[in-house]
Amino acid sequence: MCGIVGYVGEQAATPLLLDGLAKLEYRGYDSAGIALAGNTLCVHKAAGRLSVLENELRGLSLPQRVGIGHTRWATHGAPTDQNAHPHVSGDGAFAVVHNGIIENYTALRERLHDVSFVSQTDTEVIAHLLQHHFDGNLLSTVRRTVADLEGAFALGIVSSHAPDCLFAVRKASPLVIGICRHGVLIASDVTALLPYTRQYIPLADGDIARITRNDVTIFDKKGKMVGRPMQEVTWDVESAQKGGYDHFMLKEIYEQPEAVWATLSPRLNKGRVVLDDVIFTDAQLAALRRIHIVACGSSYHVGLVGKTVLEQLTRLPVEVDLASEFRYRDPLVDSSSLVIVISQSGETADTLAALREAKARGARVLSVVNVVGSSIAAESDDVLYTWAGPEIAVATTKAYSTQLAMMYLIAIHLGERLGRLGEEEVSALTAELKTLPDRIRTALRTAARLRELAKRYQDREHAYFIGRGLDYAVAMEGSLKLKEISYLHSEAYAAGELKHGTISLVETGTLVVAAACVEAVAGKTLSNVQEVKARGAEVLLLVPEGAATDGADHVVTLPRVHPLFIPSVEVIPLQLWGYFLALARGCDIDNPRNLAKSVTVE
Ligand code: AGP
Repeated sequence: MCGIVGYVGEQAATPLLLDGLAKLEYRGYDSAGIALAGNTLCVHKAAGRLSVLENELRGLSLPQRVGIGHTRWATHGAPTDQNAHPHVSGDGAFAVVHNGIIENYTALRERLHDVSFVSQTDTEVIAHLLQHHFDGNLLSTVRRTVADLEGAFALGIVSSHAPDCLFAVRKASPLVIGICRHGVLIASDVTALLPYTRQYIPLADGDIARITRNDVTIFDKKGKMVGRPMQEVTWDVESAQKGGYDHFMLKEIYEQPEAVWATLSPRLNKGRVVLDDVIFTDAQLAALRRIHIVACGSSYHVGLVGKTVLEQLTRLPVEVDLASEFRYRDPLVDSSSLVIVISQSGETADTLAALREAKARGARVLSVVNVVGSSIAAESDDVLYTWAGPEIAVATTKAYSTQLAMMYLIAIHLGERLGRLGEEEVSALTAELKTLPDRIRTALRTAARLRELAKRYQDREHAYFIGRGLDYAVAMEGSLKLKEISYLHSEAYAAGELKHGTISLVETGTLVVAAACVEAVAGKTLSNVQEVKARGAEVLLLVPEGAATDGADHVVTLPRVHPLFIPSVEVIPLQLWGYFLALARGCDIDNPRNLAKSVTVE
């Protein structure tokens, strides 16, 4: 995730900016840069680690006392020097650093048709807009620029027109101001402030702050001067990096409403789905006979959900393969196939090999990837990025949820293009998608209850997850989450399959998690609950509000959503269940034994 720092004060800005950026490294980044204010702006930026930038700056005389800095985690455009922040206006008078996404950047670029853009970023447009709106007054220039922007963003801005001044802007992306002994800092994350101050002012949504060495003036979204209360950080650096959560995994679980929205919102337009620049011609669609989904681990589980949703909405046959199997099984894939490859890291060796295999057989490959510029993204015919931001915990949570969101988008888009969905159905489905972040927020409220229950079950050695249809696909993810971080032995079964063998393992005290949110098959799953209860199992049951709960020992109630989107809500308590059991068992949650975040070997 990108990071912003800024400084105005008595000291040379560069060491403070570099120090602040170093504190933000944990967020993940692929390039870094600074801009120092003066009669001429001084900008240095470089792809790679912060040390590359530090080497570039070594030996330079940089006395400037006002500046902004940034660590970029690529979204629009690959991780290159040109795409690194700060971005500068054509006349060199404005430099800007940006976190978030400018959703209308394409339209704004078109509006600025006489400007030569030097990067692929959505951010560069802001620098040119500042130049375009400059009227001699920096505050009104910033205000008019911000009024043009849609999306979520935090900005740091410096200008040679007012070299003693720094502007900070916040819209739906965090930004704080810290006041220290020798000056004022801004940062997208309080962690960067901690070596200098524990006092900070969080900007409110829509605020613009004009900051000089001796003065911080904040204007709200209506342009009215306002005071914002000072707060104090009580955490140490490590806890601050985790946003006050005990683990990155828990932080990432709670980031899911925003991550899902960031993935959905740029692709929803007036009741329709727009898939970036992925274009299927009518002829390509007419030739399309089947879809293959290929992935590993949790991404494979997303594929299982994707199969159901795609088959429902497109009526095309969909096969889902583990990448490690697909690459060696001589699959029936050719130019009439669309192969969807799913990978958070974009570097998984088996998935990359499967992609190459599919391309060699003539298939079009569309990848769903979280890391811009990764190998899988680079080798695919088309890429759709999930905007989960960097995921630090080894066990995936927010990347999984954004992948689900992307599968819904692809299915609705293809369903419409193939003529299987009418305008009204598409509009109804997209309206349902918009409710998902709130439904996920509601599902997160199950945390307190699951935390207590986990203490009771922490000493069990085995767990079984059961469900049917989409409930089963989510049960598989719940089981994987539990085993990878708690080291508890766990298996997921299609609920109807238990009695064909596995039920022999159920005895008094066996822990069974039953997912029964899919109304069409919930009654059948409840019958399976009775079967395991009769053999002594203790059952934790997931159901939607108002559903039957017969036989369960513990019930987790979830908000109702469209039947195809149930996985997005149902996975939340399962992630929390895995997390709290691992916590109760004293496991190393963010770095479980034997596992790596990115599996680059076969
Ligand atoms: C899930 O929590 C794991 N981290 C793992 O199963 C992961 O989903 C798998 O290795 C695939 O990784 P990818 O999405 O980066 O390709």
